[in-house]
Amino acid sequence: MKAMVVGSSGLLGSELMKLLGDSGSGYDLPDFDVTDRKCVADAVAALRPDVILNTSGLTDVDYCEENPDEAERVHHTGVQNLVTTGVRLISVSTDQVFSCSVENRYILESDPAEPANVYAASKLRGEKAALEVFGNTIVRTSWLFGQRGLLPWIISSLVNKGLVMAVTDQTSCITSAGSLAEILVGMASDESSSGLFHCVSRGAVTPYELACTVRDRIKTGVVKETSWQQLALPAPRPVWSALGTERNTELPPLEEVLDQCLQKML
Ligand SMILES: NC(=O)c1ccc[n+]([C@@H]2O[C@H](COP(=O)([O-])OP(=O)(O)OC[C@H]3O[C@@H](n4cnc5c(N)ncnc54)[C@H](OP(=O)(O)O)[C@@H]3O)[C@@H](O)[C@H]2O)c1
Repeated sequence: MKAMVVGSSGLLGSELMKLLGDSGSGYDLPDFDVTDRKCVADAVAALRPDVILNTSGLTDVDYCEENPDEAERVHHTGVQNLVTTGVRLISVSTDQVFSCSVENRYILESDPAEPANVYAASKLRGEKAALEVFGNTIVRTSWLFGQRGLLPWIISSLVNKGLVMAVTDQTSCITSAGSLAEILVGMASDESSSGLFHCVSRGAVTPYELACTVRDRIKTGVVKETSWQQLALPAPRPVWSALGTERNTELPPLEEVLDQCLQKML
């Protein structure tokens, strides 16, 4: 299998590149711009990949809120450009396509989306563009972490600064970028896998609850609560966007993942 990884320098893209080894070719800014149709077509014509794994994105939701045209170009036009090449596409999307309408139960692939903000609305248009072609795949995930991300930020803030301020008004699930990359590589080598998938670690938490759990485990630092409402940032966050799946793509549960991350980092 020859895989083209778009967004290959990012958190998830670099995990994919590690796993794929010689069968992965990486494409990212500044040499490769997914919003540039000719650039995408030329790269695909030169590489002739069997599959494209798209992990590109603008993950700063406040930046997207203030730059909606750019968000649209990367998340919608970019996916359209990849779809147009005719190569099988697996593209990564977000839990934030759900805001707060379905609370307190895990949200499934068959539940209707209701984007929380500009970032999510543009990602949802990208999802639709990908899924218009049979054989393509969208994988929604949330709170990715590897070398960085929510969980490492909590651990290092508690250990190095002795303090973490964490919000109480957003509930979602964490996802190890390495574990998600394994699932994506499995999908890439199985042509029968297509459509919409949710892929996270089961265990709905607020960042505040997660920080308190970490503090109780490592017995160091202080956790203080804040809220998105208090922080008054440009992008609204979903109150509840914990994903569940009807498609057998659940990752190891929160407790297990937390233990592994603590072992690695401490
Ligand atoms: N991180 C999360 O918690 C999270 C949660 C849910 C879903 N996701 C989705 O998962 C995917 C991977 O996220 P991640 O955390 O790995 O993000 P990341 O670390 O920010 O990586 C994204 C990569 O895409 C690149 N990129 C941005 N615009 C591009 C363009 N026009 N052409 C080509 N590449 C471009 C970025 O380059 P620059 O760094 O130079 O901009 C970066 O290297 C994204 O689609 C994201 O929306 C992430």
